[in-house]
Amino acid sequence: MSHFLDAIHCNNHSGKPPVWLMRQAGRYMPEYRAIREKTSTDAMFHDPDIATEVTLLPEKLLDVDALVLFSDILVLCEIFGKKVEFIEGVGPVITPQITTEKDIHNLIQRPLEETVDYVRQTVENVKQASDLPLLGFCGAPFTVATYMIGSLEKAEAFASDHPRAFHDLLNKLCIAAIDHLKMQVDAGAQAVQIFDSWAGMTSYTGFLQYSHIYLQRIVDAMRDINVPTIVFSRNSSLYPRELSHLNPNCISFDWKYSMKELRQKVPPHIAIQGNINPEILRDESPQFIEKVTKQLLEEVGSEPGFIANLGHGVLPKTPVANITTFISTIKNGVFCESRR
Ligand code: CP3
Repeated sequence: MSHFLDAIHCNNHSGKPPVWLMRQAGRYMPEYRAIREKTSTDAMFHDPDIATEVTLLPEKLLDVDALVLFSDILVLCEIFGKKVEFIEGVGPVITPQITTEKDIHNLIQRPLEETVDYVRQTVENVKQASDLPLLGFCGAPFTVATYMIGSLEKAEAFASDHPRAFHDLLNKLCIAAIDHLKMQVDAGAQAVQIFDSWAGMTSYTGFLQYSHIYLQRIVDAMRDINVPTIVFSRNSSLYPRELSHLNPNCISFDWKYSMKELRQKVPPHIAIQGNINPEILRDESPQFIEKVTKQLLEEVGSEPGFIANLGHGVLPKTPVANITTFISTIKNGVFCESRR
């Protein structure tokens, strides 16, 4: 088994953690920018050949231990017949937007073969081309709902004005997310990550009511089919206890708290992932990156359930040299070796 899959099961006894990066194929990478110049973002996300090529870039260029499907959490909206566009300088736009209870009532899930079959094809292509473990993913209902309604503020206002309809929306997105993950697993994804980016940005009661219960349903559905699952949220270090309660295989943590402390707050059978600050990775020197990465290794590097990563995705202007420094510091495991 691979290092990555061992670690997600808290069973990596090699003394060296596996490493991958959220947004490991992204704009910081000249090869990604070259593809993006030749093609539209629409084609990058929807054409399985291009999505496959982009997913595989990190295997060619970096020493990572896992690949992550090149797609986006918002393609989930396409299962309901919505259009998703990534507009330069604006961000993702979903049309038509949800503004009324009726819009939610009228949302009907379409067959995945008719809407997101290109995702299944991409997973199959990547599995044929690479032996690295492939991570599939989905957006959690609360986070996808905020984009469907337009923003976190609008979603919170909608939820307080129309709580039943908001839960209907979360329920529909939850069913679609589980189906979408199962499709990726059927096609060959060996683990999945659930992105609930906005979960840690709303109130505590909002997190419990709108995020936690739906995350639980997705985690349970993946456990039923024996697929290891990572839960990601911004500000996840606020909620180690609540996220542990979901009992996923792994929790992805931000950089606002020490991994050593988090390791103690999370039960030993749940792995932890993280947690370099992406702004440090973008802005500091390779020497500094090496120093903070060694600190991370010192804290949790030899834990059997630790996956080295950032606390959030790689930022567009990050120097490639900083990324390779981060990965090689993890790989050389200077600290672990000197300990043996
Ligand atoms: O980790 C990976 O590389 C896998 C692919 C992936 C993308 N988006 C590709 C992408 C994943 C896992 C995501 C998740 C995602 N998408 C999240 C959750 C994680 C997080 O960052 O909080 C969210 C909230 C989105 C929504 C989204 N997609 C936004 C806000 C944007 C525009 C801003 C930005 O970061 O560029 C996107 C577009 C997007 N998704 C790009 C990529 C590589 C940029 C496309 C481009 O301009 O080249």
